[in-house]
Amino acid sequence: MTTTATNSIAVLDKFRRPLRDLRISVTDRCNFRCTYCMPAEIFGERYEFLQKAELLSFEEITRLTRVFVGLGVVKVRLTGGEPLVRSEIEKLVAMLADLDGVHDLTMTTNAYLLPQKATALRNAGLPRLTVSLDTLDDAIFRKMNGRGFGVGRVLEGIRAAENVGFHPIKVNAVVQRGVNDHTIVELARYFRERGHIMRFIEYMDVGNLNGWRLDEVMSADEIVARIDAEMPLEPAESNYRGEVANRYRFKDGGGEIGVIASVTQPFCGDCTRLRLSPEGALFTCLFGVNGTDLRTPMRAGADDAELANIIRDTWSVRTDRYSEERASMTDELRARRKKVEMYHIGG
Ligand code: GTP
Ligand code: 5AD
Ligand code: SF4
Ligand code: SF4
Repeated sequence: MTTTATNSIAVLDKFRRPLRDLRISVTDRCNFRCTYCMPAEIFGERYEFLQKAELLSFEEITRLTRVFVGLGVVKVRLTGGEPLVRSEIEKLVAMLADLDGVHDLTMTTNAYLLPQKATALRNAGLPRLTVSLDTLDDAIFRKMNGRGFGVGRVLEGIRAAENVGFHPIKVNAVVQRGVNDHTIVELARYFRERGHIMRFIEYMDVGNLNGWRLDEVMSADEIVARIDAEMPLEPAESNYRGEVANRYRFKDGGGEIGVIASVTQPFCGDCTRLRLSPEGALFTCLFGVNGTDLRTPMRAGADDAELANIIRDTWSVRTDRYSEERASMTDELRARRKKVEMYHIGG
């Protein structure tokens, strides 16, 4: 065991990876139906999402986060589904922002509700924000989000966030070959001009519903080459060990982009991320199959030490390295694995 900056006792997994990041999914609902995440034909009117009583309350999430911090967590990200559809999410932000030991608190959102929510989030103490936006091409975006929403609404959300002081904002795009890959240079240019950080994510086989195929993945190398051809780039050093994105700086002046090469250059070796589902299950991998239930023991009266033991026991036996194993898996083996869905545990 090693001692972290906050004097908590670090817990290591089977590959000696410490627990550092917590990604909290606050809801399994979303106002979008992105084709690669929640295809509209499956998540229709009658789809049964979690009921309110099944969701962890803000008090429960905050209590658990305090326990996680005691085990080494310093970085917390709120995700979903879409975190802004959880009512009064700013209250949870304020509760987490108040916790000692959380050095980095952020949120990933599709920005649709930011025009209404940006001020409340900022006032609640949210320091930074990541927005998902896959393309600036209106027709393509309308198709990709499955709801026919235009790009304008997302840009309006980003502007609302800028106006209350979120800057720079990280903007994430999933790149799907044949769908939006021809629009990446425009994204890079647009957000560079506005001082934000564009990040391109290799399309991944998360969940079981998106019909993922390797030939739809555009590799990070190809993404970088395409942008470099129009706006020359040079590699930049990582901000911290285990950073998910590879950074590149524009050669002619300011700005940078990131590429997240989880398919072609997996980064499991440095993976310090734990995910908490909306109903209080722990997933030690984005491609996890079964979660560890924390809600039942918590609601049965377990004290903080008992909850910490469950988390420690879960992390200390962790051997996940799915993205590294993917290359050697057959399509059939991959199809048989019943993975948790992205909208359930967040990106
Ligand atoms: P910063 O804290 O701002 O540096 O964010 P980050 O680099 O952790 O990036 P973010 O949380 O925005 O993640 C970006 C994307 O990377 C996610 O939406 C996922 O698609 C992917 N990603 C993040 N974490 C993991 C992971 O542990 N495994 C895999 N395979 N992909 C991940
Ligand atoms: N591959 C890569 N990234 C994905 N995301 C959702 N599904 C996938 C996928 N199949 C991203 C979203 C968002 C974050 C929550 O995860 O675009 O930026
Ligand atoms: Fe919603 Fe994000 Fe999934 Fe799109 S990727 S459906 S915005 S949770
Ligand atoms: Fe971590 Fe699993 Fe992603 Fe590998 S595939 S980086 S172990 S979450």
